[in-house]
Amino acid sequence: MSATYDEPHWQSIVHTLEELGFQVGAYKRPQLERRLTSFIAREAYADLAAFLTAIRRDSLLYRRFHTYLTIHVTEFFRDPPYWVRFREAIEQIPTRDLRVWSAGCSWGAEPVSAALLLEEMGRRYEIVATDSDDAVLATARQGLYSQPDYERIPPPYRKYFRARDGQWILAGMAGGNITYQRHDLVADALPGVFDIVICRNLIIYFKSDVRARLLGKLNGALPIGGLLFLGATETFLEYVDMGFEVVSPSIFRKKGIPGPTNHQRVP
Ligand SMILES: C[S@@+](CC[C@H](N)C(=O)[O-])C[C@H]1O[C@@H](n2cnc3c(N)ncnc32)[C@H](O)[C@@H]1O
Repeated sequence: MSATYDEPHWQSIVHTLEELGFQVGAYKRPQLERRLTSFIAREAYADLAAFLTAIRRDSLLYRRFHTYLTIHVTEFFRDPPYWVRFREAIEQIPTRDLRVWSAGCSWGAEPVSAALLLEEMGRRYEIVATDSDDAVLATARQGLYSQPDYERIPPPYRKYFRARDGQWILAGMAGGNITYQRHDLVADALPGVFDIVICRNLIIYFKSDVRARLLGKLNGALPIGGLLFLGATETFLEYVDMGFEVVSPSIFRKKGIPGPTNHQRVP
């Protein structure tokens, strides 16, 4: 597929956006180019140069562009059979208290699904939910869910919601908390060590070398015995080399050899 921008133009895009803190060079290029072209047309900039000048000066434009470029599609219990098997995998973890990282959490359906699961299992949990986009994090923190989103929640979990002004909010969850934090998986240091890392439908957007580096990063956030839950369509062919075993499709358990990045779970 031919590129929309020639190399010098592409480099000026990457340079400008990376200076502003957006590691665009890490993402697959064709999709970024399509989104960039449609944003420029939609906002009626004369050309690429005019857009790059404007985005350097206008932090609100930058934030709007970041939100436009990153894809935020998500839903409660996305790919439901995977969540059934995820629950079975969690049952194998003997400790009652669990630290969970939902990386690329969008507006929160994923960490909330994890919280509902753990709540029903009688576990205690601390969920750190991160995303690089401020706008989706603001929505996530509001914790208001629409009727169609609510209807995706399997009936046994609906008791943890109550209606408010035509929307739904969480209520009566006693087992733990979800904290939403800004975190860029490419640029930022790990936000901690976790028993479970959920990173679904995010690493697919990155170039293969970056994707491999990010999988290594997620690995570094897990202790031996920790679980990694990836998206339903994602491949993880390197799992053996990285010291994981398959628990079920898209769910991996870290077996690795103890070492500096292989944390031991504190009993
Ligand atoms: C397609 S959504 C996936 C949401 C959820 N994990 C799911 O599977 O339903 C991808 C999310 O990753 C976020 N994202 C994109 N680049 C990121 C990065 N470098 N670091 C952290 N999050 C990122 C986007 O803002 C978006 O909310």
